[in-house]
Amino acid sequence: MPVLTAHGLTKIYGSPKEITPTRALCGLNLEVETQEFVGVMGPSGSGKTTLLNILATIDTPTSGSIRINGVSPAELHGDELALFRRRKLGFVFQDFNLLNTLSVRDNIALPLALDNVKAKEIDRRVGEVAARLGITHILDKRTYEISGGEQQRAAIARGIVHRPAILLADEPTGNLDSKASYEVMQAFTDLNSSDGATVLVVTHDPFVASFCKRIVFIKDGKVFSELRRGSDGRQAFFQKVLDSLSVLGGEFNDVAAPHV
Ligand SMILES: Nc1ncnc2c1ncn2[C@@H]1O[C@H](COP(=O)(O)OP(=O)(O)O)[C@@H](O)[C@H]1O
Ligand SMILES: [Mg+2]
Repeated sequence: MPVLTAHGLTKIYGSPKEITPTRALCGLNLEVETQEFVGVMGPSGSGKTTLLNILATIDTPTSGSIRINGVSPAELHGDELALFRRRKLGFVFQDFNLLNTLSVRDNIALPLALDNVKAKEIDRRVGEVAARLGITHILDKRTYEISGGEQQRAAIARGIVHRPAILLADEPTGNLDSKASYEVMQAFTDLNSSDGATVLVVTHDPFVASFCKRIVFIKDGKVFSELRRGSDGRQAFFQKVLDSLSVLGGEFNDVAAPHV
């Protein structure tokens, strides 16, 4: 059974009676299997963040449905939904969203502390995930004492420490230079290949997408095509992504801008 299913997702911003309501999603279907590492690509304004917010259960579709781990968030209410989100989902944002009054350790521990996990178990889990992400040496630092790449790896650690069913990331390298972007994408890759984490990253950046094992291209609010990574490595896949983008044409050409 897939970890995540989205069926016929439509999102219209503004009242449908308005002269120009924005149709951000138009009947989008998506399935993510357990232990997949999926990238969702599309030009700016193509509905990527809208999709992610719906999958994150912080926004609701105008029509259509999602299921995560067999549960339909639309059927949960109040505290149930908050609990589901906190236990089953992990998030990584473009701007890290770490609390700067807390140490890196306490930021990572947060999802477990909120769930009343015992201190000893928290220490063990935070230690494990920090080691996996190569940030053990900065656990006692504050967020303003570390680099952007380190902050994002700390945010990834926080996003995964409670072992969510799926880790959702929106443009996770959007505020990082190319070296830090590489390290952050390598961190997602390790979590996926070594720990079997299920990861979904939305991005407009072909370099970021080249780390994924499958890429879903969205256009006009629905899935337009997809690409699977072969056994010939990331560099070859990167080239295939660029080729796909040039074939997709139109606004996709902006996506392949040379900021890679
Ligand atoms: N809260 C909102 N209210 C109205 N329109 C929105 C809102 N959020 C996004 N949009 C519009 O929906 C479309 C998709 O936006 P978004 O999901 O942010 O795309 P992306 O993340 O791919 O850049 C855009 O036309 C955007 O202007
Ligand atoms: Mg966006």
